[in-house]
Amino acid sequence: MIARAYLEPGTESVMADRTFPRYETVVRIEGATPVKVPLKNGVHDLEGMLEAITEKTRVVWICNPNNPTGTIVSGDDLSDFLDRVPEHVLVVIDEAYYEYVTDPSYPDSLSLLDYNPQIVVLRTFSKIYGLAAFRIGYGVGHPDVITELNRVREPFNVSRLAQTAAIAALEDQSFVVYCRNQNRLGLKKITEKLEEWGLGYYPAHGNFLLIDTGFPAGEVFEALLRQGVIVRSGEALDFPRHIRVSIGTQEENERFLHSLAEFLKKKGTIPSNA
Ligand SMILES: Cc1ncc(COP(=O)(O)O)c(C=O)c1O
Repeated sequence: MIARAYLEPGTESVMADRTFPRYETVVRIEGATPVKVPLKNGVHDLEGMLEAITEKTRVVWICNPNNPTGTIVSGDDLSDFLDRVPEHVLVVIDEAYYEYVTDPSYPDSLSLLDYNPQIVVLRTFSKIYGLAAFRIGYGVGHPDVITELNRVREPFNVSRLAQTAAIAALEDQSFVVYCRNQNRLGLKKITEKLEEWGLGYYPAHGNFLLIDTGFPAGEVFEALLRQGVIVRSGEALDFPRHIRVSIGTQEENERFLHSLAEFLKKKGTIPSNA
């Protein structure tokens, strides 16, 4: 909807080079040009993104936490960036994994809206709320931005059933707290093992980890799949040695660690009794 409202052939849209692939897709569908700025250590390079903005730029995408790296941009860095973004640019802050974040430096982006009419904050019920099949989320922005979006919005684009489910989910905040805590525990447990095994990973703030296995991602993916564990190979994400794994229940996390250990033992990079 944002791309349809703001982009057309001849315009440009700035995004990280390795981020949620849908941004590039929707930009291309509108015939506009994606301008990709390399991540710096897995984090959005906001300085580089500022430099990439031209008079043709209409939309900048900031995925926070970033999919697939799981990294965040801090509130200070985001405020500094917004202070310097030219007025003709809409900044989309995609906070699909917002509810998982516990880091105190994470921005309170809704408060930034008060003095930045050119941002729109996106959230979803697909992640921590577990309602992906209902296809419901929300965006918060200046009334002028919402008016632009309403021009291209399909009528009745969110079903009444989905709205009912979302309201019920919002009322169940103890479930959200439970999931956030379980996620933190899962991240801790998995990253402790990764440290023990000497594997690199990006600092994760969402409900997934991007792990440098040291081996071709396709091979690791296959080996885990044969043990009944599905992860995302980094090959298609431009991380040829990484796998992205979602944090699951305690049992699922243990099963993942066991399967990865089996693979690494066969490769001889960890001892057979690890
Ligand atoms: C960063 C990011 N934004 C948005 C989405 C999609 O959310 P929705 O199901 O609300 O379309 C995803 C899902 O993978 C995502 O990773």
